[in-house]
Amino acid sequence: MKFFVDTADTAAIAELYELGMVDGVTTNPSLIHKSGRDIKEVIAEIAQMVDGPVSAETVATDYETMVKEGHEVAKLGDNIAIKVPLTWDGLKACKQLSGEGHMVNVTLCFSANQALLAAKAGATFISPFIGRLDDMNLDGMELIADIRDIYDNYGFETQILAASIRSPNHMSEAAKIGADVATAPPEVIKKMAGHPLTDKGLAAFLDDWAKTGQSIL
Ligand code: E4P
Repeated sequence: MKFFVDTADTAAIAELYELGMVDGVTTNPSLIHKSGRDIKEVIAEIAQMVDGPVSAETVATDYETMVKEGHEVAKLGDNIAIKVPLTWDGLKACKQLSGEGHMVNVTLCFSANQALLAAKAGATFISPFIGRLDDMNLDGMELIADIRDIYDNYGFETQILAASIRSPNHMSEAAKIGADVATAPPEVIKKMAGHPLTDKGLAAFLDDWAKTGQSIL
């Protein structure tokens, strides 16, 4: 499973990228707002930093303006995935932009039918939002499994990009189901390294080591 990092924080991206933990980056208008930076400046910087796809989201709700915005953000790097919402106009924009050869990430997907339409419209990535479904007492991971089945049934090449990831558990569950990509905030990726038994075991080893009076260096 590829790891995308869901942030516009360039320092956090750089730290994970050096460790080989970043295959791409996703952003959205909320993350741009959180960064406090100009969208074009920050997306161009991120696109320079990483080799993989960098999603930049359009904000128009009508097809024509969405396509114009898509063309504009695509100029920010040769690895830009244009992000459009899963609306009827968004699907039309997806069809147009993917037909022109751009990578397109169709976002705000909450149902298997929406994912089916995005694949038909030529999406490079479909972004089902796990956490926001879980927040409503629905099962976000079930949606990932349904989309996996549907795409595999018909050989759709659209990549399932598990989004709205809130916990390390979401990452391993998405990987078990076979999501192609998961995008998570940097802190969730770091949390994946943690286990209380690792901490406990390390403390015991260090305690015994101190008793030996030895040093390695
Ligand atoms: C990814 O593309 C989405 O923008 C992101 O994962 C949304 O996450 P949230 O539901 O935690 O805001």
